[in-house]
Amino acid sequence: MNNNTFVHKYIRSLIDKDDICVDMTAGNGNDTLFLSGLSKKVYAFDICEEAIARTEEKIKGCDNVILINDSHANVDIYVHEKVRLFIFNLGYLPNSDSIITTSADSTLAAFKKANELLKENGYIVITFYLKQKGGLDEYYLLSDYINKNRFQITETYRQDKLFSPVTLIIRKISQAH
Ligand SMILES: C[S@@+](CC[C@H](N)C(=O)[O-])C[C@H]1O[C@@H](n2cnc3c(N)ncnc32)[C@H](O)[C@@H]1O
Repeated sequence: MNNNTFVHKYIRSLIDKDDICVDMTAGNGNDTLFLSGLSKKVYAFDICEEAIARTEEKIKGCDNVILINDSHANVDIYVHEKVRLFIFNLGYLPNSDSIITTSADSTLAAFKKANELLKENGYIVITFYLKQKGGLDEYYLLSDYINKNRFQITETYRQDKLFSPVTLIIRKISQAH
């Protein structure tokens, strides 16, 4: 099972039709479309125009998606309600000439803002591509932050190959604990 299949399988049990979700890297729109079918509303970000166009095409007919052509590091400008689940599928747009890729610093900035908007016991699902340029840096920086703050990693998924992608399912620990 690849990471995307794992993520979709897992997410089904985490959200329902009352929930707000945010796709922090819309890309080809696969995750956005998937979340749209399960939740009340989806905000979907991508800094790359081509990705927004592809996602727009993919979600035709869905009336609960708000597409935003901006960096996910600006999520707080656009989202003003509590969120049940954020998904980050890092890296670059597949099958494209685009050289835009996620980077450790902006991913960390976006992650911190996502945490502010996250409901208690909400989830952040994040997939790192260790073989891609900057992928290891992103993985180390974010893992360090996650381990030092109020999160619980409820699941880690990776295929048993060197430098295969890593998915973390992260739950925000409630203040009461
Ligand atoms: C692996 S793709 C995402 C795949 C997507 N989730 C799907 O289901 O098809 C990663 C995407 O992150 C986008 N990206 C890179 N930096 C970004 C940023 N700062 N803010 C938002 N999106 C960014 C890229 O343009 C690319 O489309």
